[in-house]
Amino acid sequence: MAHRLAPSVPALRPKELVPPRVVYLVSTNIHKYLEAREVVASYNLSLAFLRDDVPEFQHSDVVEIAKWGARWAADKWDLPVLVEDTGLFIQALGGFPGPYASYVLRTIGLTGVLKLLDGVEDRRAYFKTALAFCDGREAEPVVFTGEAWGQIALEARGAGGFGYDPIFVPDGGDGRTFAEMSREEKNALSHRGKAFRAFSEWFRSYRGLTA
Ligand code: IMP
Repeated sequence: MAHRLAPSVPALRPKELVPPRVVYLVSTNIHKYLEAREVVASYNLSLAFLRDDVPEFQHSDVVEIAKWGARWAADKWDLPVLVEDTGLFIQALGGFPGPYASYVLRTIGLTGVLKLLDGVEDRRAYFKTALAFCDGREAEPVVFTGEAWGQIALEARGAGGFGYDPIFVPDGGDGRTFAEMSREEKNALSHRGKAFRAFSEWFRSYRGLTA
């Protein structure tokens, strides 16, 4: 005979079933997840991949885009969620493509961006990641950011990474593009590595973890 739970057992919310060291990255980008998972693991935390297409709120500030996305994902799943948004800001182009980096990559691509910089000497640029954490439905998002400055290379180099990695030479490296580095090397210098380290430190104390 099938057993039913006594009606007096209250239903737990999804977020209450999640172990304290676990947090969900809501994204369709597995590359972001594979990078972030390594950073988070080095703090004895566990990053789960919740594959979902977070609608992209149009805004000039990646912080607002990530916050809006985290609220959307937390409302939908009622889990401790992270949503990140990254922009690429090229100085000589007045900060273009900024938060529209994904649209620009899909349309003109790396070749198009390199063409825009043809003959341009100042190739300074930075990535900015905004990472928003929301602890389930109705929670206010907490935001962490990370920036990585560097140069747009003269041509695409390397087969690793994703997106703009083949044309971005970070400061503090040895002249290689992100696409020519291992995941660990990229994490040590990258916008995403910085944002996820800031989050992990904060999250450990938020959860009261000591080990
Ligand atoms: P979004 O955060 O997914 O909106 O990313 C915007 C665009 O930047 C996408 O085209 C990504 O492929 C690209 N992108 C995001 N993060 C990185 C990165 O770490 N390296 C290179 N390109 C990136």
